[in-house]
Amino acid sequence: MRRSSLFLILSVLLMSCSATSDNASNSSAGGGEAAITSSIFGSMPDGRDAMLFRLTSPSGMMMEVTNYGGIITRWTAPNRDGTYDDVVLGYDNLDGYLKENPYFGAIIGRYGNRIGAGRFELDGETYTLATNNDANHLHGGIVGFDKVLWGAEPFTEGETVGIVFTYTSPNGEEGYPGNLSVMVTYRMSPDNKVEFTYEAMTDKATPVNLTQHSYFNLAGTSSDSILDHELMIMADHFTPIDSGLIPTGVLQPVVGTPFDFTTATAISSHIDADDEQIAFGLGYDHNWVLRDGSEEMKLAARMYEPTSGRIMEVHTQEPGIQFYAGNFLDGTITGKSGAVYEYRSGFCLETQHFPDSPNKPEFPTTILRPGETYSTMTTFSFLTDGMGS
Ligand code: GLA
Repeated sequence: MRRSSLFLILSVLLMSCSATSDNASNSSAGGGEAAITSSIFGSMPDGRDAMLFRLTSPSGMMMEVTNYGGIITRWTAPNRDGTYDDVVLGYDNLDGYLKENPYFGAIIGRYGNRIGAGRFELDGETYTLATNNDANHLHGGIVGFDKVLWGAEPFTEGETVGIVFTYTSPNGEEGYPGNLSVMVTYRMSPDNKVEFTYEAMTDKATPVNLTQHSYFNLAGTSSDSILDHELMIMADHFTPIDSGLIPTGVLQPVVGTPFDFTTATAISSHIDADDEQIAFGLGYDHNWVLRDGSEEMKLAARMYEPTSGRIMEVHTQEPGIQFYAGNFLDGTITGKSGAVYEYRSGFCLETQHFPDSPNKPEFPTTILRPGETYSTMTTFSFLTDGMGS
């Protein structure tokens, strides 16, 4: 852990323990102080308590997050009139997440997205992973990082509030080699930005590809379709997939395809195009190859919702981004405050290395070796169209 013990003591002292069970998710802007409160969210099947932390920013932004899966359960952002609404999908209580969670709000690991046939070779050995998506391995397997209880340490740094989550994934978990220590930090600053920092170290070479799987609906109602949202992705290529959603290995130009989001385009425009790639993804469920593949922070995507005026910008050090349009939502999940999550009522923008990289030597590597530190950052910033962005 990097934080000094003084800082630890300070953050514990600053942490108030008042309950956070009310459903305050609509509010007006700001004026308050940076604060974190905590309460018990519920009991895990093994009897351990899962906690719920509420982070509030002087701007008026509020996020609730549990150490079960690092799941963000609520996250408010302003519309053009300055009203803060909850813009993420999820459940009111822990039981909802324990029963059935299509990765709402969660940390994903060890490997975001798919590894073909749940197998890969590394240093002359073949590793077999848990398969949980037909024949493939998805989002870390049967019990991925979205389903474990993380250590959680809240902190404040002036007007910034955050939480450090820690988890040690044992050698062999879901089939992966090496003991992997993971630290994920959420940091909310008063400019309505949340920074996600992912760090990991291993004692044996292993693939690592960590991400965040929040489902957003920027209209703030979380049950309407997201098809009128307008998306720009800073990518001239995407990675086409086979019928099992595994990349073929090709980097295909987006120009002239339904995957061209180089300028702001309504999601509805081509999501039902007569196109083999759209058919395989049931819409958009693909990885885009960012134009700037460097490890510098750069704008990856911008989503705009015209009725509320909300804009979300994603900046990242990662080379790719998965845009998933909620094609597997089908109205069978009832979430927060009775919201029914219909087909395509939430979207995900998952920054990442490309799917199936352990089997695609031509893709940027995802292998972490002993002595190296995995370190990557992604930010989600909320603006409005009244701000001249
Ligand atoms: C990712 C995958 C999708 C789907 C969702 C969650 O976006 O690519 O296929 O698994 O997560 O359902």
